[in-house]
Amino acid sequence: MEEKVPTKTRFTLHSILTIILCLLLSQTNSLTLQEDTLALLEIKRAIDPNSVTPSSYLNSWDFSVDPCESTGSQFLGILCYLPLDNSSSRVTEVDLDGVGYEGFLTPAIGNLTQLSVLNLNNNKFRGPIPETIAKLRKLTRLTMSQNYFTGAIPQGFTELKTLQYLDVSGNRLSGPIPSDITGLRSLTYMSLSNNGFAGRIPNLTGLWQLSTLDLSINQFYGDLPNLPVSLRNMYFHHNILSGHLTPLKGLIHLKWLDVSDNRLSGAISGDVLSLRRVVHLNVSFNRFTTLEVINYSLQGPRLQVLEAQGNHLRGRLPVNLVTFVNLTSINLANNQLTGPIPLEYGTKVQTSWRRLYLDHNFLSGNLPSEFAHSSTNVRGSLASNCLRCPTNVGLCHGGQRPSTECVGQHNE
Ligand SMILES: *[C@@H]1O[C@H](CO)[C@@H](O)[C@H](O)[C@H]1NC(C)=O
Ligand SMILES: *[C@@H]1O[C@H](CO)[C@@H](O)[C@H](O)[C@H]1NC(C)=O
Ligand SMILES: *[C@@H]1O[C@H](CO)[C@@H](O)[C@H](O)[C@H]1NC(C)=O
Ligand SMILES: *[C@@H]1O[C@H](CO)[C@@H](O)[C@H](O)[C@H]1NC(C)=O
Ligand SMILES: *[C@@H]1O[C@H](CO)[C@@H](O)[C@H](O)[C@H]1NC(C)=O
Ligand SMILES: *[C@@H]1O[C@H](CO)[C@@H](O)[C@H](O)[C@H]1NC(C)=O
Repeated sequence: MEEKVPTKTRFTLHSILTIILCLLLSQTNSLTLQEDTLALLEIKRAIDPNSVTPSSYLNSWDFSVDPCESTGSQFLGILCYLPLDNSSSRVTEVDLDGVGYEGFLTPAIGNLTQLSVLNLNNNKFRGPIPETIAKLRKLTRLTMSQNYFTGAIPQGFTELKTLQYLDVSGNRLSGPIPSDITGLRSLTYMSLSNNGFAGRIPNLTGLWQLSTLDLSINQFYGDLPNLPVSLRNMYFHHNILSGHLTPLKGLIHLKWLDVSDNRLSGAISGDVLSLRRVVHLNVSFNRFTTLEVINYSLQGPRLQVLEAQGNHLRGRLPVNLVTFVNLTSINLANNQLTGPIPLEYGTKVQTSWRRLYLDHNFLSGNLPSEFAHSSTNVRGSLASNCLRCPTNVGLCHGGQRPSTECVGQHNE
């Protein structure tokens, strides 16, 4: 019985608003659909008025005029579909300015059923993403990054079959990625970065148009998932992922691959290094033990950046690294690499390589002569190895390991 009171109050409020709107509606033709106007009103009402600054978009939402009929400086951040016949106008975009609005996202948002763009980036929305968002079947772009949204991805969210762009990064969302996420069949961009999401990542092969996937800075665990072949950019850094890189094998369009700061192990395999389009590969801070490099000069992979520091890489430096014609930046620091620096690296240091970090390994022997030339403009470090590293060579600054740590490294 007690529950009836607030329900009734809200109903009364709605009724009053409806009456006001009906009065407004009687004045002109082809106005905004009443439900849309009510939903806009609810959106504004759920925001703390103290956070609505004089120059902000929301401050221009003046309900004494019709939202879609308004001109110039009224209802900033709204776009409408204006029909040619005498039917009602519909709100198609709500694109708020990021001025730090504080409050909640009202469930009434679900009544803007013609909405194709909803942007709430860079505000202070808190509380859950309302489940009614699943009613926005025309939505193509949903961005609510850098807010304080909490809770899980709402049920029914995967009904948004036309959604192409989804960015909920930088919130406090949690829970797993629902396995029926592949229902978002039009998705080309998805960022869940920087939240509290956890669990295993489901098979995402069904998102067959996905180009960018950012799951970084969460607590996802388990193996790397199966991913769609359309993928170009994958950011998986700073999670708790384990297992091998093998699921990435067939991703022939991949350009940017960052799986750094996880618990991946095994080989940084030839399969992955030979992905033709990869430009940037960051596998730093994992538990990889081998770096497999084969000769690629004929296939011409585009790799420019190879970041593999902070792993458990053993064995010798791969000579064939020199066959990556576009490679300019290499970081293999903080591993357990042994043996000499290949002579072939000398020419590269003089010509194309710009960054070379090989410090904190167990490399031994003399440097290729080119390393000592003052003409090299390579940045980097060879410190903390077992090398014969002349102190007048810039890369040698920081010194070498004490001989007690270099037993068996054949430094002569
Ligand atoms: C729209 O126009 C048609 C034809 O002119 C008319 O029959 C109908 O009643 C109008 N509808 C509204 C909502 O005014
Ligand atoms: C959505 O519109 C319907 C019909 O006008 C209304 O009954 C309902 O209260 C609205 N929903 C919300 C959450 O305001
Ligand atoms: C992943 O999903 C795709 C398509 O939805 C399916 O063909 C494939 O068998 C699945 N892979 C695994 C390992 O379950
Ligand atoms: C590679 O990843 C590590 C750890 O996430 C990060 O510190 C580093 O800046 C990244 N390197 C590049 C070149 O982006
Ligand atoms: C190397 O980079 C150049 C210029 O960025 C580009 O034209 C060329 O195609 C790249 N080479 C390969 C093998 O991708
Ligand atoms: C790589 O292959 C090319 C062509 O077969 C050959 O000319 C080159 O010497 C090889 N490079 C290395 C480092 O093995």
